[in-house]
Amino acid sequence: MGSSNFVTEVDPVFIFVTVVSVLFIIGITATMLYFLFRYNKKRNKVAKDIHGHAGLEVIWTLVPLVIVTFMFYFGWVGFKKMMNPPANSFQVKATGRMWSWLFEYENGFQTDTLYIPAQKPVELALNSMDVIHSLYIPAFRVKKDVVPGKLKNKLWFIAEEPGSYDIFCAEYCGQRHSYMLTKVVAMPQNKFNDWYASVAPDTNGRTKTTKESSSDDEMAQKGSMIVKTKGGCLACHSLDGSKLVGPSFKGIFGKEVVVIVDGVEKQEIVDEKYLRKSITTPAAEIVRGYQNLMPPPPLSEQEIGEVIAYIKTLQ
Ligand code: CUA
Repeated sequence: MGSSNFVTEVDPVFIFVTVVSVLFIIGITATMLYFLFRYNKKRNKVAKDIHGHAGLEVIWTLVPLVIVTFMFYFGWVGFKKMMNPPANSFQVKATGRMWSWLFEYENGFQTDTLYIPAQKPVELALNSMDVIHSLYIPAFRVKKDVVPGKLKNKLWFIAEEPGSYDIFCAEYCGQRHSYMLTKVVAMPQNKFNDWYASVAPDTNGRTKTTKESSSDDEMAQKGSMIVKTKGGCLACHSLDGSKLVGPSFKGIFGKEVVVIVDGVEKQEIVDEKYLRKSITTPAAEIVRGYQNLMPPPPLSEQEIGEVIAYIKTLQ
């Protein structure tokens, strides 16, 4: 048994196709080398006309035909199964954007890591905010394109063993494609139920965790989620110091920057006031060396405060 319900079906087909391909490349190469040796000029001074061989024609047509029909059959059967999620699947909306993943559950809660119950079918409704991505969970042997617009691809699986597994983006989607990583965490059903109940939104639509007091830590934690998801900040701002379209968030708090206001250079210290201004009216002051490209993100006052609390922690 593997980590998902598809492992025992995908792997034999994969091995079958690989073994057949390897045998063919060895066979073809060996035949070619033998012919080079056997029919070279030294051994065959005079060329001979050959007028075909019906038996050979039939063999080298039928044998590959049978083999590829097998490949097609097993591929098709598995594909059909992957295309049809069971009706009782646990539903999650998965959204890709440059360069992060967002998962939204039926109760409205959102996470950047995918949390699911083990041993239960899970169905992901895939959507993209920008370009084509591809959601790939190698351990589960599932991969599906995440396309913007009307076409909503679906992907489903059963995680057989509780555990944590990698999620990759498998479609080149820009500069930070290789950083578009997250995890799927499969929990035993009762543990998952506890977690799911604890994050259920109250009647005001806010999650229970956001109702509690707002310590700096909690604010920073919420800010981290907003930066990675709703804010869409990571398309242009890195967290590790690398320079993208905009300045990196790492170490920016407390730093002195040179900004250009109406064509005039000006020194500024990056404090809370500066960050708030840069988020709400990005075009007002542009850091030297960067372009005026940022649209104001769709965030509330509270959320901007949380983002700032998060940026402060990135030293
Ligand atoms: Cu998203 Cu590559």
